Amino acid sequence: MDKALQVSAIKDGTVIDHIPANRLFEVINILQLHKCMEMITFGTNLDSKQLGKKAIIKVSNRFFKEKEIDKIALIAPHAKLNTIKNYEVVEKRVVEIPDEIIGIANCFNPKCITNHEKIETHFMVVSKKPIELKCMFCEKITNENQVVIK
Ligand code: CTP
Ligand code: ZN
Repeated sequence: MDKALQVSAIKDGTVIDHIPANRLFEVINILQLHKCMEMITFGTNLDSKQLGKKAIIKVSNRFFKEKEIDKIALIAPHAKLNTIKNYEVVEKRVVEIPDEIIGIANCFNPKCITNHEKIETHFMVVSKKPIELKCMFCEKITNENQVVIK
């Protein structure tokens, strides 16, 4: 059987695969891809054995930084990042939620000092599945559904 790709292959860049279909636009947002001038292709509601429906983003000539990858992990914990060089997959990694999150998410507690003063947020990850972030300032928990990425 001919196994045609649903989104064309790229020469160099990053393929973010296995994004839950309903999280595609959030991932595009947090990576600020609207500002990216390189070629970007994406697809959503693609069939996936793992997720039912998945989304995929392919960005040419972009290789994401650790902080950006941590952001992806908070939104799409099962995403797979493939680094493509000259059409070959040269690196494949599953994103991983770090033990501490510094400055990339907002605290859910409206009274938290980080929501009123210019202080970098800082969370301990108390659970990775489902995601639960404990604020170092107010000790309140921000969960998977509440997390807002800066
Ligand atoms: N890909 C691409 N351009 C390339 C090479 C690969 O867009 N030049 C994409 C593929 O379409 C796939 C992803 O990168 O979505 C990973 O490629 P590969 O490891 O070959 O695919 P699978 O084995 O299906 O990946 P997985 O580990 O997710 O099962
Ligand atoms: Zn807080």
